[in-house]
Amino acid sequence: MIERIGLSMEKVKENGTMNNYEVETPKNITIKGILSLLMQSIEEKDGRSVISLGMGDPSAYSCFHTTPTAQQAVADALLSDKFNGYSPTVGLPQTRKAIADYLSRDLPYKLSSDDVFITSGCTQAIDVALTMLARPGANILLPRPCFPIYELCAAFRGLEVRHFDLLPEKGWEVDLDAIEVLADQNTVALVIINPGNPCGNVYSYQHLKEIAETAEKLKILVIADEVYGHLAFGNNPFVPMGVFGSIVPILTLGSLSKRWIVPGWRLGWFVTTDPSGMFRKPKVVERIKKYFDILGGPATFIQAAVPCILEQTDEAFFKRTINILKQASEICYDRTKEIPCITCPHKPQGSMAVMMKLNLSLLEDIYDDIDFCFKLAKEESVIILPGTAVGLKDWLRITFAADPASLEEALGRVKSFCQRHTKYIR
Ligand SMILES: Cc1ncc(COP(=O)(O)O)c(C=O)c1O
Repeated sequence: MIERIGLSMEKVKENGTMNNYEVETPKNITIKGILSLLMQSIEEKDGRSVISLGMGDPSAYSCFHTTPTAQQAVADALLSDKFNGYSPTVGLPQTRKAIADYLSRDLPYKLSSDDVFITSGCTQAIDVALTMLARPGANILLPRPCFPIYELCAAFRGLEVRHFDLLPEKGWEVDLDAIEVLADQNTVALVIINPGNPCGNVYSYQHLKEIAETAEKLKILVIADEVYGHLAFGNNPFVPMGVFGSIVPILTLGSLSKRWIVPGWRLGWFVTTDPSGMFRKPKVVERIKKYFDILGGPATFIQAAVPCILEQTDEAFFKRTINILKQASEICYDRTKEIPCITCPHKPQGSMAVMMKLNLSLLEDIYDDIDFCFKLAKEESVIILPGTAVGLKDWLRITFAADPASLEEALGRVKSFCQRHTKYIR
């Protein structure tokens, strides 16, 4: 596609009808890009089913299913014939209010509808956050490893990226000392993802408070990606970063995608969790609203279903999802323990993914994580994301949002693959 655009532009130039506006496409790896290459490398002759532990879309597995409450709410909104028109570009008022109320349940202050802007999934909320903050010379602090859309978006917006490490031996906590070294007067924000993708971390109240205090000291905002909000099944309960909004302004990003298992509905939010009101300054609000005029908002009938979805979803539905994820994460952790060249430094406590370290010195003819994943796809029809795609070379990111039988089968195949490639030591 990129080549095709390039070619047609060449033609236009030859004809001399347009100015040259060739621009570089950012070279960043995307998860979707690398997964589709891995899929292509699967051998057709292998009759076994392909098992993908590459993408965080639980709806692909029948054990994960959204609640009938959500389905009915969407059907009712559609059939009411009231939501066929445009919505305000920042979102329907009732949808903004419902999300403000939903998030306020876990905050020490109350959000208002004006704090909430409706986006097309959390992906678009990321784009809004970075676009609002980008300006010449600005930089943003991203975790390593990270969900790669942040880096891609920063590249498109001309925002310089500086990485701070997440510390595997400390439950993938943020290296706060590194943040102090990296930040300068041009740093606009730091990003945290909690519960974490790709690491499966769930941060404690104390650690989140320390992050807020560090950001306040450095005079930078915190972007809190809570797309996996509430999907916590370990020792730490999920604490929204907005709890610390009075220490430092927070931008909270989220969506229905994961907790309601409907990533295809494309309903997300960009929320200013900022009781001090920095984001309520008229100039800031005007800028955000203008940008939303470009975006247009997700489908109106999906927005209209949100109040019912948020207010009426049964606790039992959430508990069931958490139980399956916990069981799946344990299968993943236990099965990989049986594979000597793969180690998991921190048992996942939330989200749908975990990072595993590859010990390449135990393998022969595998050069790095990318080589591992391509050979695995080819030989075993199992898709796993190479750590390079999330910023950690020679690691693997495994998504455990799969049914237990598929997980067992996939990890069994990974084990045979590793046995076959184990270095023979005399
Ligand atoms: C950390 C993180 N942020 C944002 C997103 C995008 O969410 P959505 O599907 O709602 O656009 C994902 C999706 O996997 C994610 O893992």
